[in-house]
Amino acid sequence: MEITLDLRDVPKPRAYAELATHVENVLEGIEDPIAGMATIAALVHNAFGHLWTGFYRTVVPGKTLRVGPYQGTLGCLEIPFGKGVCGTAAAERRAVVVPDVRMFPSHIVCDARARSEIVVPVLNADGAVMAVFDIDASHPGAFGDVDVEGLERIVGWFQHAPVAR
Ligand code: SME
Repeated sequence: MEITLDLRDVPKPRAYAELATHVENVLEGIEDPIAGMATIAALVHNAFGHLWTGFYRTVVPGKTLRVGPYQGTLGCLEIPFGKGVCGTAAAERRAVVVPDVRMFPSHIVCDARARSEIVVPVLNADGAVMAVFDIDASHPGAFGDVDVEGLERIVGWFQHAPVAR
C-alpha cells in the first residue's frame, strides 16, 4: 500500500485512475489537510516526474495564497489572488491550463525551466477555495483536459474527507 507509483509510461487516463485510487487508499482514515497535501504532492510528483508539484493555501480568503506542501525547487512564498496562474485559478475558482507560460502575462517565474503549467482549485467541504494545486513542467503543452479531470478528482479528497475544515 505505502508505495510511490511511477506512472510516466502509463497512458494518462489510466494513470490518473490508478493514482486517484492510490491516494484514497493511502489517505484512508487521515483527516489532516496538511498531511493530505504533503501526501498528494509526493505521489503526484513522483508519478509524473514534472518540475514542481504542490499546493498554495488560502491564508486570507479572496486575497492571499501562501505556499504549502510541495516537491521541487524553492517555490515563491506568497501569491495574491488574481495574480499568476495560481492566483487566477483561486480568484476565478477554475482550473487554468497554460500551454506556454511565456504567453501568460502575469505568470510568476519561480523556476526558469518551467514551460507549461496547470493549476486546479482545491475546494473544502463548504465549497470554499482552501488552496490551489499547481504542477509545472519543463516542456510546453504538457497538460490538457485529461489532467484537469484527473487532478480535480484527486483534490476532491479535500471535499469529502470526513472532517470539518
Ligand atoms: N508559476 C506560478 C507560481 C508558482 S510556481 O511556479 C511554484 C504562477 O504563475 O502562479
